Amino acid sequence: MMMVLPSLALALLCLLRAGTQVPVQPGFDAQKFAGMWHIAAAASNCSLFLRMKDGMKSPSTTISITPEGDMAMTLLLPLLDRCQKLELLLQQRGQPGHYVGTSAQEKRELQVLDTDYGHYGIVQQLQPSGQGHSVGLQLLTRGQDVNPQLLQRFQELLPTVGLTKDMLAVLPRSGECQEAAEWPRWSP
Ligand SMILES: *[C@@H]1O[C@H](CO)[C@@H](O)[C@H](O)[C@H]1NC(C)=O
Repeated sequence: MMMVLPSLALALLCLLRAGTQVPVQPGFDAQKFAGMWHIAAAASNCSLFLRMKDGMKSPSTTISITPEGDMAMTLLLPLLDRCQKLELLLQQRGQPGHYVGTSAQEKRELQVLDTDYGHYGIVQQLQPSGQGHSVGLQLLTRGQDVNPQLLQRFQELLPTVGLTKDMLAVLPRSGECQEAAEWPRWSP
C-alpha cells in the first residue's frame, strides 16, 4: 500500500516517526486512550515532513486496543481532495504507553508522553532510518479545535526532544477526512 501513496502521504507518515528517552504518561490507561483523535499539530525533523508540512491538513486517527494490549491505529490522511486510509498495528513493549512497530520495514516507536484522555494527548515517535533516525511529536485532540494554551505547551516540549519551532506545523482541519471519520462504515 505504501508504494502507491503519493509523497504527501509519505510526509504524513513522517508524523509517525520518532522517540528518545522521555517519560511516558504515568499510570497510562490504554483503554481510556482508545477512540478517535485529530492530529492538530505535529513537529518532526524528518526532511520529507519539513518539505511538505505547509500543505498538510489534519489527519485523524482511530485507536483501538486489542485483547493482547496492542494498539491498532486507523489513520485517515487528507491528500489533496481525497482521504487515504492507513492501518497500523503497534505492539506494547516495556512500560504501558510505549509501543513499537510490528512489520519488518517499520521499526517505529511510539510513546504517549502526556494525556488527560478526554481532551488531548502528546505522542512522541521515533523511526530509525538510513540517514539517522527522525524524531516527531504530535498533538492529538478529541475535538477539532485546539486550545491556545495547549498549543503553547506543545511548543514548549519541542526543545526537550531536540526539535525547534520551525519544524512545527499546526494542521488545518480537513473537511473530507473529518466527515469520513465520523461516518462509521466509511471505506476507501
Ligand atoms: C532528529 O533529531 C534527533 C534528536 O535531536 C537526532 O538524533 C536525529 O539525528 C535527527 N534526525 C534528522 C533526520 O535530522
